[in-house]
Amino acid sequence: MSDQLIIFDTTLRDGEQSPGASMTKDEKLRIARQLERLRVDVIEAGFAASSNGDFECVRTIAAHIKDSTVCSLARANDRDIARAAEALKPAANARIHTFIATSELHMQKKLRMTADEVFEQAKLSVRFARNLCADVEFSPEDGYRSDPDFLCRVLEAAIEEGATTLNIPDTVGYAVPELYGAFIRNLRERIPNSDKAVWSVHCHNDLGMAVANSLAGVMIGGARQVECTINGLGERAGNCSLEEVVMAVKTRRDYFGLDLRVDASQIVPASRLVAQTTGFVVQPNKAVVGANAFAHASGIHQDGVLKARDTYEIMRAEDVGWSANKIVLGKLSGRNAFKQRLQELGIETDSEADINAAFTRFKDLADRKSDIFDEDIIAL
Ligand code: KIV
Ligand code: ZN
Repeated sequence: MSDQLIIFDTTLRDGEQSPGASMTKDEKLRIARQLERLRVDVIEAGFAASSNGDFECVRTIAAHIKDSTVCSLARANDRDIARAAEALKPAANARIHTFIATSELHMQKKLRMTADEVFEQAKLSVRFARNLCADVEFSPEDGYRSDPDFLCRVLEAAIEEGATTLNIPDTVGYAVPELYGAFIRNLRERIPNSDKAVWSVHCHNDLGMAVANSLAGVMIGGARQVECTINGLGERAGNCSLEEVVMAVKTRRDYFGLDLRVDASQIVPASRLVAQTTGFVVQPNKAVVGANAFAHASGIHQDGVLKARDTYEIMRAEDVGWSANKIVLGKLSGRNAFKQRLQELGIETDSEADINAAFTRFKDLADRKSDIFDEDIIAL
């Protein structure tokens, strides 16, 4: 099995499905360019058949992006797939991602189709897509809640018809890590031609486990592609967060043993661009990209970080694109952090007694004001 983990970014498709997150063509192109700088392997640029606007977005991104594969989503029918292929024509590397729901619930209540009809449609759609594009991904929507026997039948046929990637969505965020990982491993073990395709995970965050589930799909299930979005953007509680998966795999390489093509120093610029464009602000305590992710407010932590950064930091802020770690000065801050900030601000201090006096006044102020800004210190 490969040691390379493929990062498939779906910020511009599944991410955009968040109510209120729709983007213009120019905005999408700007984000796609940043995703290319981030060196994601695949950019899902949109759903070409869903509207003329989305068709244009996919086509424009396909025409400009050269270093990442550009993908369009398509329902499992000839019209959608032909539209996707048309929009992807200018791409240096193109992928068609076709899907159909396979859970009893979705087949009966939503599609109003029998399992045999879904099976046939999945098969014919992958065949049709493969005639138009060499790189075809197939997703059984609501896959995690589907009957494993039926799923084995559909997925085996999809591989036979030429699907190069099989993606197992946890569409409603119902999975838990061990079970999701075992679910994928069981499929891979039972399907005779399973080694002919790359297996992929696609997790939603309804129970806050999208990243954990995705990583279990990789480690237990043997998946080698993760579908994710910048800032975990996505419908309802969002999708698996790209920055968290990437930094987990990089920081704990001792455990995951996987390589990534991603340039992590582009993560924070990507996060900011997506937040600014969509208006979806990032919570301050969000892992990796939150404003406080590398901030230290307590005196003990500040003192530790100033003496040896790895006392309280497992990643380097600059490695994910922050300019530097941020020591937040407040009432819990120690003298050492205060003195360091004076130096950073270029404030000359003649004696230790002066520093002590200023530090006492700083503590008085901090009792009255939760965060102390540089301007406050300069005033002191
Ligand atoms: O969540 C989901 O099932 C999807 C599919 C279209 C892949 O987004
Ligand atoms: Zn999804």
